[in-house]
Amino acid sequence: MRARGEPRLRLFFALWPSSAMQEQLAAAASPVIGALRSGRPVPRENLHLTLAFLGSVSEASLAMLEHLAHAASRSAAAPALELMFSALEYWPRAQLVCAAVRSSPDEVAAFAEALKQRLTSHGFAPDLKSFRPHVTLARQVTHRPVERTLPQVRWSFREFALIESRSSPGGSLYSVRASWPLYSA
Ligand code: 2AM
Repeated sequence: MRARGEPRLRLFFALWPSSAMQEQLAAAASPVIGALRSGRPVPRENLHLTLAFLGSVSEASLAMLEHLAHAASRSAAAPALELMFSALEYWPRAQLVCAAVRSSPDEVAAFAEALKQRLTSHGFAPDLKSFRPHVTLARQVTHRPVERTLPQVRWSFREFALIESRSSPGGSLYSVRASWPLYSA
C-alpha cells in the first residue's frame, strides 16, 4: 500500500535531444505547425522522443530505476540510435501532430520494448501501448493538417535519459534527472 505523503515523481525514459537538434526539427516543422487551425505547439525546448512512460512513481523507487537503466545500457545492441524524420502524422484520438520516424524504427522500438520489459518485471507499470517512435509537435489538434511532409531531419543519440515532468501554469516542464550511454560494455 502507498504510504500517505510519500513523495512521488512523474517520470519517463526518453531520447532527449540537444537544443540544436530540437531547433532543427522545430524549424523543419514550423510551416505546418504554424498553419494549424487548432492546437498548441509543443515548445521547442520540450521536443523529445519517449521510450517508456512511467507515470507517478515514488521517489524511493529512483535507485531501482537507475539500476534498471544501467542494466539496459549494458545490454543495448548498438552504441547509437539514428532517427530520420521525414513525415508528419496526425493522430486524431490523441489529438496530436507528430514527426514520425521513417528509418531505423526497429532499433529504437527494440530498445524501448526491452526497457519496458525490464521495468515491468521489476514492478513498474510503463505505458504498454505498442511503441511507435514519434516526437509530438502539437497537442489538442482537432483538424487534420493539409501538409504531411517534413524536410528530412536526422537525430542521433548516444545516450538515453530519465526525465521528470512537472506541471506549471505555462505547460509541462521537463528536466533530465539522469542519463546513461546507450551501450556501455
Ligand atoms: P505523447 O507525446 O505521445 O503524448 C510525457 O508526457 C511524454 O510521455 C510524452 O512524450 C507522451 O507521449 C509520453 N506518454 C506516453 N504514454 C503516456 C501517458 N499514458 N500519459 C502521458 N504521457 C504519456
